[in-house]
Amino acid sequence: MEIYNNILKFEELSSTNAYAFELVKRESVEEFTTIFTQNQIDGKGQRGNVWLSEPGKNALFSVILFPIQISPIQQFIISQCVSISLLHVIEKYCSNVSIKWPNDIYVNDKKIAGILIENIIQGGVIKPCVIGIGLNCNQLLFDKSIPNPTSIKIETGKEVEVEIVIKSFLLELIELYKKMPYNFDFIRNAYKEKLYKNGLYSLYEDEKGEFLGRISDVDDDGKIHIVDKEGKLRKYFFKEVVYK
Ligand code: BTN
Repeated sequence: MEIYNNILKFEELSSTNAYAFELVKRESVEEFTTIFTQNQIDGKGQRGNVWLSEPGKNALFSVILFPIQISPIQQFIISQCVSISLLHVIEKYCSNVSIKWPNDIYVNDKKIAGILIENIIQGGVIKPCVIGIGLNCNQLLFDKSIPNPTSIKIETGKEVEVEIVIKSFLLELIELYKKMPYNFDFIRNAYKEKLYKNGLYSLYEDEKGEFLGRISDVDDDGKIHIVDKEGKLRKYFFKEVVYK
């Protein structure tokens, strides 16, 4: 498929997300153009964290989208599309894969992939939307600062071909993304169905402290609903609540 011509490969970059933004500024690029590198000097994670990855072992890449078919207030649907596509790829290798709200991918209780979506909103549309993905493929040992990492190789004992994994993600994403404007319900339901600890009581922490609760829903704007042990419904945006 022609998408494979649009994978730009680099030995080393500061960050594939940063490079994607530079590229869009510099020239006109096609949707689904993908930047892939073996090594990032300054890989970016969520919440201003760094993303550490052993050189040459993992899938570190960014995909450029121009989702003009949806409005900026609907942008959580893109995050859901990306999470589901990535989950489907990982499910080809591992079992017990889930999406930890809002968009970490877990195998059992360990994080195998992270997603960093960065947007520019101009003239009422998102243009571009850069989807940054760090998927741990063949790394066996991780920095002590990373809380609970895993990789495809740790889970299966087998090496994977990183480029094949990326191509298989692109195929999943393109299929789902094209359905996106008229398939919101399907995407929302597929996302909710795969949510980590959905419906199970577990420990959360908000600004007032720790509490036991269970996820009951996720709004279209990404707000999570957690029902606490007293039956009270609490709603949070990203960063307002953490899993313990
Ligand atoms: C997270 O914190 O979970 C999100 C991690 C996202 C890391 C990827 S690696 C490729 C892309 N380029 C970056 O600088 N970050 C993302």
